[in-house]
Amino acid sequence: MPSIHRIILYRLLAAWVAISLMIGVVVSWAGLRKIDRQLVTLATMELKRFGAVNLALLTQPETARRALDQLAAQVLWEHFIVGEFQDASRRSLASAVNPLHAALRTEVERQSLSFPLNLDRQFRKFSADGRNAMRVLVPLREGSGQAAAYFEGAFLVDPETVARLREDLVVTLLVALAAVTLTTLCLYPIILSLNRNVLRQSRELLAGNVELMEVVGSAVATRDSNTNLHGYRVALYAVRLGEAAGIGATQMRDLIAGAFLHDVGKIGVSDAVLLKSGPLDAIEFEQMKRHVALGVEILNKSKWLLRARDVVEFHHERYDGSGYPKGLVGAEIPLLARIFAVVDVFDALISKRPYKDALAFDEAMVGIRGGAGRLFDPRLVACFEGIAAGLYLETCDRSGAELEARLQQQIGKYFGLTV
Ligand SMILES: [Fe+2]
Ligand SMILES: [Fe+2]
Repeated sequence: MPSIHRIILYRLLAAWVAISLMIGVVVSWAGLRKIDRQLVTLATMELKRFGAVNLALLTQPETARRALDQLAAQVLWEHFIVGEFQDASRRSLASAVNPLHAALRTEVERQSLSFPLNLDRQFRKFSADGRNAMRVLVPLREGSGQAAAYFEGAFLVDPETVARLREDLVVTLLVALAAVTLTTLCLYPIILSLNRNVLRQSRELLAGNVELMEVVGSAVATRDSNTNLHGYRVALYAVRLGEAAGIGATQMRDLIAGAFLHDVGKIGVSDAVLLKSGPLDAIEFEQMKRHVALGVEILNKSKWLLRARDVVEFHHERYDGSGYPKGLVGAEIPLLARIFAVVDVFDALISKRPYKDALAFDEAMVGIRGGAGRLFDPRLVACFEGIAAGLYLETCDRSGAELEARLQQQIGKYFGLTV
């Protein structure tokens, strides 16, 4: 499972990339619009040159020609590529081309502006030979506000101006990205610390639940045999057999809970039956069998303990269908109960009970092997044969405290309490 640091880092990184992309798009879009607006401002400033044109001079082509030539010589060719005076119907009165940019004329003429007459100033940005240019059209108005003539021209935008505007755009973009990066870096420790608090609290809650499970299990074990050893050992064996059988972490948690609580229903079995030293008669056995249903009843009171249900309800089922309470056959028996049945019987065989002696390891394994396909799932018996000797050596002479310590390690591992 990836650590919480990695999860937070991945998510923050994803958020950083997404926000940076978004900001990049928005800033670039706004920056390009700003460049456009500034170019229009430049165009507007250029057009102010025509405020002083004497409209009376533009009524005839000859006088318009003279006015244009005069204007061109004075100011026009500073930036303009072409310039043209048009009458009120936008028919050309006089036009001139800047000799320095004559090569651009064809390109510029393609960009001629067409629009309903008497509108306000018009602008269109275009590229002329790789350079930024602006087509402009300005109505020259009489005192009444009517357009008496038009000036249409195209001018080149100063490359330094464009470079400066682009530089501004890049700086804005970098500042925005730096702000996002800084915010993300500041958020990491804050989120981590908040998460640690939540994790600590949920771990305490989980530890409390695990303790509850252990306490209930040991209360039953103490009544049954005065010791928790059986509970510790079957839980340890179950974990190992579960690992050998390849079950997942969630199933493993259910299996551990089931191992602790498998006989929780024995709380409701009378001492006369539970503690009887000899074999049970048929009536007593029926009373003993009730511990399964009683166990399920107890689990039903706690959503958390209910995870142990498969083991509690079906740990006395047999692979051939001769078990109880339902007489399930083969794979009808939940896997966790089939796993647990093997280790529960194995530990019973190697343990001393009031009515029997403990079997040696080899004798116990004969019993387990003999039960394959009859009592137990043969596949699980095969798995168990591979690990049983090691397990036996690890646990046979261990004290309750040592077994408990080993079990706590497994609980920590599978319940996430050691992180
Ligand atoms: Fe049982
Ligand atoms: Fe048991």
